[in-house]
Amino acid sequence: MYTAKFRYKMRPCYFIQTKPYICKLVNMSFASTIFAFLLFTFTFSYFSFKLLLHPKQKTTNQKKPPGPPTLPIIGNLHQLGTLPHRTLQSLSKKYGPIMSLQLGQVPAIVISSSKAAESFLKTHDINFASRPRIQGSELMSYGSKGIAFCEYGPYWRSVRKFCTLKLFSTSKVEMFGPIRKEELDVLVKSLEKASLVGEVVNVSEVVENLIEDIVYKMILGRSKYEQFDLKKLVQEGLILIGAFNLADYVPWLGVFDLQGLTRACKKVSKSLDELLELIITEHEQATNVHKNRHEDFVDILVSIMHQSIDHENEQNLVIDRTNVKAILLDMIVAAIDTSATSIEWILSELLRHPRVMKNLQDEIQNEVGNKRMVEEKDLKKFNYLDMVIDETLRLYPVAPLLVPRECRERITIDDYFIKEKTRLIVNAWAIGRDPNVWSENAEEFYPERFIDKKMNYQGQEFESIPFGSGRRRCPGIQLGLITVKFVIAQLVHCFNWQLPYNISPSNLNMEEKFGLTIPRAQHLQAIPSYRLAVVKHE
Ligand code: HEM
Repeated sequence: MYTAKFRYKMRPCYFIQTKPYICKLVNMSFASTIFAFLLFTFTFSYFSFKLLLHPKQKTTNQKKPPGPPTLPIIGNLHQLGTLPHRTLQSLSKKYGPIMSLQLGQVPAIVISSSKAAESFLKTHDINFASRPRIQGSELMSYGSKGIAFCEYGPYWRSVRKFCTLKLFSTSKVEMFGPIRKEELDVLVKSLEKASLVGEVVNVSEVVENLIEDIVYKMILGRSKYEQFDLKKLVQEGLILIGAFNLADYVPWLGVFDLQGLTRACKKVSKSLDELLELIITEHEQATNVHKNRHEDFVDILVSIMHQSIDHENEQNLVIDRTNVKAILLDMIVAAIDTSATSIEWILSELLRHPRVMKNLQDEIQNEVGNKRMVEEKDLKKFNYLDMVIDETLRLYPVAPLLVPRECRERITIDDYFIKEKTRLIVNAWAIGRDPNVWSENAEEFYPERFIDKKMNYQGQEFESIPFGSGRRRCPGIQLGLITVKFVIAQLVHCFNWQLPYNISPSNLNMEEKFGLTIPRAQHLQAIPSYRLAVVKHE
C-alpha cells in the first residue's frame, strides 16, 4: 500500500482510535436505541406538559403539505435511516415533491423535484434565505458569525458581498493558480514513483491530502504548524459540525448533552480558537514587515479588521477578530470535503467506465499532446471534461441535502401553508436523479447527455443543483470547479489507472456514507501507470 509521503489521515472511522466517545456518537444511526429510551422516558412527561400547560389549540384550515405520520417527541426522525437522502427520495415518491416532516420539534418541508426547487429557491428565495441555528456551528463558529451557517440579515449580506468581491473574484481565483499547480506537481511526482513499482494507491486519501494542502495554503498561507496538528483538528471539527445532534431537533434535551457533543465541540473549538489566534497574529506581524508578500484569505480579512465592510449599508458593519475567525472556519469547512469528495466520485465513475476514461484522455491528449502536463489555461478547451464533471455532480451532489434553510415568514406556496421557522430541506440528490427530467436512464453515468446542455450553476437551471441555488448558493463555485477540473485533467492525462485486486470495473463498490458531505463508504484504491512520453520530473 502506497503511504510513504501521505501521513496518517483522519476519517470518521479512524476517529475511534483517538476519540472513541465522539466517534460512537457521531456514527449513531437515527433509529438507534437512544430514541427508544427517549420515547419511553419522555412520552409521559410530554403529554402531561401538553395537557396541563397547553390548552387545546384552535384547529385552522391551513393545509400542510402531505407527509408520513409522526410519533410523539421524535416526529419522523426514526424514519431517516443512515442515508437520509435516499430515504427522503422514497418517501417523496409516496407523498410528493413538497413533503412535510416533523424532525423532533422542528417542522420541516422536503423538496424533491426541480419544479419545486425553482419555486422555493427562485420565486420565494428571499423567504428561505436564512439558516437555522445548529448547535455545532453555534459552538464552533463563534455563534454562527461566519457566512455558511449565519442567519439572513444585514450582517450576512455584507459579509457575503465582501467575500464574493474580495475572495472569490475571477482575479483571486487566478491568483491562487500557482498554489494549485505546485501542490498538484508534488502529487504527480509521488504517483510517478508509485507507478514505477506498481503500488496500489489510496486515491481517496491522496486526493484529500492534496485538497487540504491547496485550501490551507490559499486560506491560511501554509498547511503545517509545529504547535498544532492543523489537519487533525479541522477534521475533528468537520465531524462534529456534520454529526447528527439530538439537541438540534429536541432543543430542551440540549442541557442534558446526552450525546456528549456539546462537551466535544467546546473542547475542539477551544483548540481551533488558539490555532486561529496564532495564525491571525502571525499574519498581522508579517503584514507589518513584508507589505508586498503573497496574499491569502487571512491577509485580506485582517486588512479590513475594525473597518466598515459595506459603506453603502446604513448599519456600517465593522468586522472584528471573532468575525474573521468565524469566516475563516466556515471557508475551510466549505472548501475541503466538497472538492475532495467530488474528485473521489469523478475518478470512481471514470474507473467504472473505461470508455469514458479513454474519451477523456483522448480529448486532453489531442489538445496538449503527450509530452507535457496539463496547465490551467488548457482547461477551457476540454468540453468532454465538463460533461464528465456535470454528470458526476448530477449523480453525486456532495451535499445531497444542501445546507438547511429556514422559512423567515409564514407563506402559502401551491396552496400549502408553511409556517415561520419551518426548516427547508432540498434533496439535490433526488432532483439530479429524477427520471421525469433525466429520462429513464437517470441512474446511469452517461456524460454524453450534456452534449447540448452546458451547466453554469448560476441559479438559472434547477435540474441539477450541486452548488445549491438562490441567495445562499455556493459562492466558491468557480474556485471549486477549477480545482476539481485541474486535478482530474492532470491525473487522467499523466496516468492510466487500474483497479487493484482483480476488481472489475462493474464490481467497484460505490456505497456512500452520510455526513457533512457524502464521500465513498470505502476508500477508492487504484494502481497508476505513467503515460506521458517524457518524464518531466527528475
Ligand atoms: C466542488 C466544490 C464545491 C461544492 C460542490 C460546493 C457546494 C456547496 C453547497 C451545496 C452549498 C450550499 C448551498 C445552498 O444552501 O443552497 C455551498 C455553500 C457554500 N460554499 Fe461551496 N461548494 C464547493 C466549493 C466551495 C469552495 C472552494 C468554497 C470556498 C473556499 C466554498 C464556499 C462556500 C460557502 C462560504 C458557502 C455558504 C454560502 C452561504 O450560506 O451564503 N464552496 N457550497
